[in-house]
Amino acid sequence: MPLMQLDGVTVQFGGLTAVNELSFAVAEKTIHGLIGPNGAGKSTVFNCLSRFYQPAVGKIDFAGRDLLALRSDQVMNLGIARTFQNVELFRGMTALENVLVGQHSLGGSGFFGDLFATSKVKQAESARRQAAMEALEFLGLADTANSLVGSLPYGKQKLIEFARALVSKPKLLLLDEPAAGLNPQETSHLGDLIVELKDKLGITILLVEHDMSLVMRICDTITVMEFGRKIAEGDAKTIQNNPAVIKAYLGEGEASA
Ligand SMILES: Nc1ncnc2c1ncn2[C@@H]1O[C@H](COP(=O)(O)OP(=O)(O)O)[C@@H](O)[C@H]1O
Ligand SMILES: [Mg+2]
Repeated sequence: MPLMQLDGVTVQFGGLTAVNELSFAVAEKTIHGLIGPNGAGKSTVFNCLSRFYQPAVGKIDFAGRDLLALRSDQVMNLGIARTFQNVELFRGMTALENVLVGQHSLGGSGFFGDLFATSKVKQAESARRQAAMEALEFLGLADTANSLVGSLPYGKQKLIEFARALVSKPKLLLLDEPAAGLNPQETSHLGDLIVELKDKLGITILLVEHDMSLVMRICDTITVMEFGRKIAEGDAKTIQNNPAVIKAYLGEGEASA
């Protein structure tokens, strides 16, 4: 049983078919790559999974639930978290405060709870702070907890976004180009961290990424898209030797695949 299964998903914007009868399955506790040239439809797939876009046709099953019947906030509660292609953090808040924002789906104390802060509420609050600190520590960011995000280097900001996604304890983590803007050393470190998320926390990862050496190094399975369709699927070796994949990337002037 896969954790998630897309079945014949089609997304249209006016006359443009951004995703075309796409089907693929993501196995539990794997790193699944979703790659393809610019405009292939990868981010559109993510936006369907987080329920920002509604497919015209198709089904998405997540852990036995009909994902398309749910709202965006319900999807979060079901255990799907994401990071964005561009860092979207509150720059004037500390790293710890930004990570705490990621926990809202676990249920806050509510307006009256905060107003008449009972010991139970205070306990819940301190548990939340502890979980946020643990997420920062897991990513080696404990020393940034009280720094304003806007003052930190870009590579660290990216990891804080990871920490924020992690505190909601997701089953599935959607990563949209996490290595964009990182130097080779930061990218390599990021790759190790993603593998740790799978191995140590049992999180399933769906990864959209342009850095082919990262994708080939850490993905268990790779689905390749071009013009909204799936053109290949398999492990790194299979994908690297697939003529349709090589052609798709050469066309983009990106022969690194
Ligand atoms: N909100 C939108 N409105 C209109 N067209 C869109 C929208 N989002 C994406 N597209 C188009 O859909 C296609 C797929 O885009 P996208 O999913 O962003 O590709 P990728 O992430 O693989 O680069 C592109 O042609 C893009 O211009
Ligand atoms: Mg994209």
